[in-house]
Amino acid sequence: MTDAILKTHAQLVIEGKTHYLPILKGAEGDKAIDISTLMKETGYVVYDVGSKNSATCSSAITFLDGDKGILRYRGYDIEDLAEKCLFIEVAYLLLHNKLPNREELEGFRTLLEEYALLHEDMIHFFDHFPPNASPMAILSVMVNSLHNYYPEMGGDPLENIDKTASRLISKVRTIAAFSYKKSMGHPLVYPRNDLSYCGNFLNMMFDTPVRPYTVQPEVVAAMNKLLILHADHEQNCSTSAVRLVGSAGVNLYASISAGINALWGPLHGGANEAVIQMLQAIYADGNDYKKYIAKAKDKNDPFRLSGFGHRVYRTYDPRGTIIKKACDGILAVLNVSDPLLEIARNLEDIVLNDEYFVSRNLYPNVDFYSGIIYRAIGIPTNMFTVMFALGRLPGWIAQWKEMREDPQTKIMRPRQVYAGEPQRTFIPIGERF
Ligand code: CMC
Repeated sequence: MTDAILKTHAQLVIEGKTHYLPILKGAEGDKAIDISTLMKETGYVVYDVGSKNSATCSSAITFLDGDKGILRYRGYDIEDLAEKCLFIEVAYLLLHNKLPNREELEGFRTLLEEYALLHEDMIHFFDHFPPNASPMAILSVMVNSLHNYYPEMGGDPLENIDKTASRLISKVRTIAAFSYKKSMGHPLVYPRNDLSYCGNFLNMMFDTPVRPYTVQPEVVAAMNKLLILHADHEQNCSTSAVRLVGSAGVNLYASISAGINALWGPLHGGANEAVIQMLQAIYADGNDYKKYIAKAKDKNDPFRLSGFGHRVYRTYDPRGTIIKKACDGILAVLNVSDPLLEIARNLEDIVLNDEYFVSRNLYPNVDFYSGIIYRAIGIPTNMFTVMFALGRLPGWIAQWKEMREDPQTKIMRPRQVYAGEPQRTFIPIGERF
């Protein structure tokens, strides 16, 4: 083997035979070993529970450096986007790999306005959920059902993906607000095209016939920032679900519905709700931090400190840092005083000085402080993960689109290492003990 090949390949010796596996380099210096021929050449698969070490695709959407705490969408730093953009600008960026100019942004806004209404028949669906139904369950059902009312246009789903994407981004906002109204037993408030994307959502949530809602720019700005911070995060659990389900060739709505279900989990997007429940429990226990820290460390207790830790970040989650900084300002502007903010800060201090968490690089993640802001702007706790889904939607769609456009895409079908019984002789039912 020549030196040139050794520079571009990893060597793997299996049963005395050397195999040369190509080394891939990402745009930001990330390195991977291409094992796509491994099974065919050697009969071996790789064993990687939870895909901790496996890249399942190459993607040009989001860059994340977990050691340095860097997050970029399409090359732009999250700090700049969260500070200077509208959520719909970021959605456009994720979908088109380009920040929109004024004209493009107006075009996108017009599409979102055009698609804001929900088919009236679909509104009856809401009547058949129990009053305490989880808004995440409702969201996933409704998004899946959109396919029946608004099938992708044209034979090729990619041909009209911009319209389908706009439809989804607009209608999911309406569905989310309607599910809240139904849970309250309040009349629905329809979308209004004179309002911004976030303003429209807030109005659909909080306007009532007896108390008209005034859209406050500060509240809109806070929601806008949170949605941007949630908009994509490369191959996280829900995005992988979207890609996995989509890789079977199913429509976009069904793929997104799968992503919503994955996001619901308390280890993933559901953590924002779990954080508030945890902070409330600490408060109710007279600020007994020690008790919760001990529970989190106890390997026999399934409890974990929600809002801490991340698969990729080994330092502060940059999104968490932005949200933490924004908390004070937003609460002050809205004149809200929340005792949970102080509890969150104290808990963070304790964690960052505790050997268990320090040695495992467990820092606050995006979900730790986001709930404090959602509470301040009036979003009920059981809607927090729905807010996350609203934000993540453009990312899911962009990832789905990229997957469908990638000629290398194959149906995702992982392997396993079989750990069950060896072959057994069949026993007729009358002879079984
Ligand atoms: N509390 C206590 N211990 C923890 C925590 C935590 N929040 N997170 C990780 N650990 C421990 C874990 O027990 C393990 O210890 P050991 O090495 O002794 O077995 C070690 O840290 C490594 O954890 P892991 O479970 O192997 O790490 P992972 O990459 O598989 O899990 C995680 C990542 C986010 C699921 C996990 O940190 C966690 O459960 N965090 C709490 C839930 C949460 O906040 N989720 C939101 C994640 S960010 C936003 C999003 O994705 O939606």
